[in-house]
Amino acid sequence: MNPMNSMNSMNSMNSMTMSYELSLLKASPKRWLITGVAGFIGSNILEELLKLGQRVVGLDNFATGHRHNLDDVRQVVGEEVWSRFTFIEGDIRDIEDCQNACDMVDYVLHQAALGSVPRSLNDPITTNKANIDGFLNMLVAARDAKVKRFVYAASSSTYGDHPGLPKKEDIIGRPLSPYAVTKYVNELYADVFSRCYGMGSIGLRYFNVFGRRQDPNGAYAAVIPKWIGELMQGKSPTINGDGETSRDFCYIDNAVQANLLAATTDNKEAVDQVYNVAVGDRTSLNELFRMIRDCLGEYDSKVKAIEPAYSSFRAGDVRHSQADVEKAKRLLGYEPGHRVSDGMKETVKWFYKALSS
Ligand SMILES: NC(=O)c1ccc[n+]([C@@H]2O[C@H](COP(=O)([O-])OP(=O)(O)OC[C@H]3O[C@@H](n4cnc5c(N)ncnc54)[C@H](O)[C@@H]3O)[C@@H](O)[C@H]2O)c1
Repeated sequence: MNPMNSMNSMNSMNSMTMSYELSLLKASPKRWLITGVAGFIGSNILEELLKLGQRVVGLDNFATGHRHNLDDVRQVVGEEVWSRFTFIEGDIRDIEDCQNACDMVDYVLHQAALGSVPRSLNDPITTNKANIDGFLNMLVAARDAKVKRFVYAASSSTYGDHPGLPKKEDIIGRPLSPYAVTKYVNELYADVFSRCYGMGSIGLRYFNVFGRRQDPNGAYAAVIPKWIGELMQGKSPTINGDGETSRDFCYIDNAVQANLLAATTDNKEAVDQVYNVAVGDRTSLNELFRMIRDCLGEYDSKVKAIEPAYSSFRAGDVRHSQADVEKAKRLLGYEPGHRVSDGMKETVKWFYKALSS
């Protein structure tokens, strides 16, 4: 039996963790590789796997990730648990780094990439090197190391200019940015490796993931941590466009859950597939702004008076995005336990503490 099946009825990270603790996964720990481990999503997966008694190798070159994310996980799990983690400072553009990292690994969770649509528009070559050359290196290294499963971070950007809502996995449009091209090429390569080499992979098309440890700083910061940081400094966040652009914002715990399910599923039908990872809700940027302001207003009443500024629409952005998550529910047993408002409360609480100290 798949140890993860017992969590299907669970709908929170804590209850999910408890069910894992009762599972075979904990009784028989595996060795996992997380690339991009110092980043937002990678560090959250690391925290969960270590709590579940797993052995973890992490690979990162700190291009956009931070040592303080690893320090934070270390502090949360404690020294004894942390000793089951091995960090390799290395680059997925270097095949030897990928080979070293894949040595003796059961499951690969490949998160390393250069995110951000605007970054890819400004510098498509650098994005291509990390996201396509690096991805191919990881596929080759994982194939040669005979890993049990290769799970990788795909993206909702693959839906491109297709207007249909909600997004279903098999209907995509044309990419709207170099970043979107790279993420689609990842899916094509994973599919070819499955056909040509029998390598079992699963792509997770994340839809605007948010939560603790997401970087609030820099030109390419994601909207939620950026706005929380700006509001905490008393600044007016800027909304690109009229604010009616909408997204299916996905709390980090849902994305972590999807990774663990994808790696461990013993449902043959579920492998060599891509899945939407989101909630199935749609939130406009105007609604998102009010939600963040209300949550933060609980901690700092001055924030309640701040209004957003508006600027022009951003190139390469899709207007609306909303996922159909039925496929992940049906084949992986995915149960997104956090709606956007639940996740936002947790996120704002975490950032308020982290950015105040
Ligand atoms: N956050 C989202 O909403 C979202 C949405 C869709 C897809 N994704 C994908 O999920 C993955 C993780 O995203 P994230 O939000 O955690 O971003 P992040 O920038 O916080 O993490 C990415 C990590 O990869 C590392 N990295 C980048 N290039 C590398 C290289 N050449 N070698 C080794 N490490 C390298 C970075 O240093 C960083 O730690 C990425 O593949 C991203 O494209 C994220």
